[in-house]
Amino acid sequence: MALLDNHIAVVTGAGSGIGRAIAAGYAREGARVVLLDINENAAAEAAKEIRETGGKTDSFALDVTRREDCVAVAQQVADKVGPVSILVNNAGITRRNAFAGDADAVAADWHDIMAINLNGPFNVTHAFLEPLRATKGRVVNIGSIQSFMHLRTPTSPAYTASKHGVLGLTRALAAELGRHGIRVNAIGPGFIETPLNAKVRASDPALVKTFIDHTPLGRAGQPDDIVGPAIFLASDLSSYVTGSIVMADGGYRTV
Ligand code: NAI
Repeated sequence: MALLDNHIAVVTGAGSGIGRAIAAGYAREGARVVLLDINENAAAEAAKEIRETGGKTDSFALDVTRREDCVAVAQQVADKVGPVSILVNNAGITRRNAFAGDADAVAADWHDIMAINLNGPFNVTHAFLEPLRATKGRVVNIGSIQSFMHLRTPTSPAYTASKHGVLGLTRALAAELGRHGIRVNAIGPGFIETPLNAKVRASDPALVKTFIDHTPLGRAGQPDDIVGPAIFLASDLSSYVTGSIVMADGGYRTV
């Protein structure tokens, strides 16, 4: 018996990086996984790759900023796949414009980051609320070190605000939905090598070194480093855990 047998798991932003790794990990643990991404091809490709290794997957295009589309996809998933019992709100972006920099760029960053990183989890969780309630489901939100602090490395204030918001939403929903048997937790990844930060890794190795020097485990994380915590929070292993954030940051916040 695998840890997620008989579960249907939805992962947003599952076409790349951390979301893709979590989708594959959930499939290995027996879940049927629904991969959602604004990049339809990436989601389909990731779903195919998982199927080729024996996993059960479906994929749909979804822009998490569009509330009505989230409702429509939730209906499609209910009709074609079944009742969702695990939701991972992973889709996210980052930008690096400073608050005191170009005003239009900062305003655009604020709008886009909030829409995807914070409104996204709201929209998607709301859209899947009914099946999550029916199945006593589990929600896993992807926060960040920046759920607690800003970083000196160039990073948009909107990103920090959005990830603080993700933790706030996690706690608020855990408090309200616990009575319905739904558990809501977050994961706080540290610096994980994904396409999200490929540009900065290529252009600014000194910055990456500063980050890693501050990290007790002394290395950058890989998407697979997030899979264990994601399985833990989605499975019965965490049956009395809700409103928590599991930091998977190599110890960054301890020093
Ligand atoms: P990534 O860029 O590799 O993957 C993000 C995925 O989200 C992409 O497939 C993209 O198409 C999708 N996406 C973007 N906008 C979307 C939208 N509007 N609707 C649906 N899908 C959308 O990024 P990565 O690194 O895997 O990030 C995943 C999550 O982890 C994000 O929430 C990010 O903020 C968070 N995170 C990442 C860290 C890192 O160091 N990579 C550190 C801490 C948190």
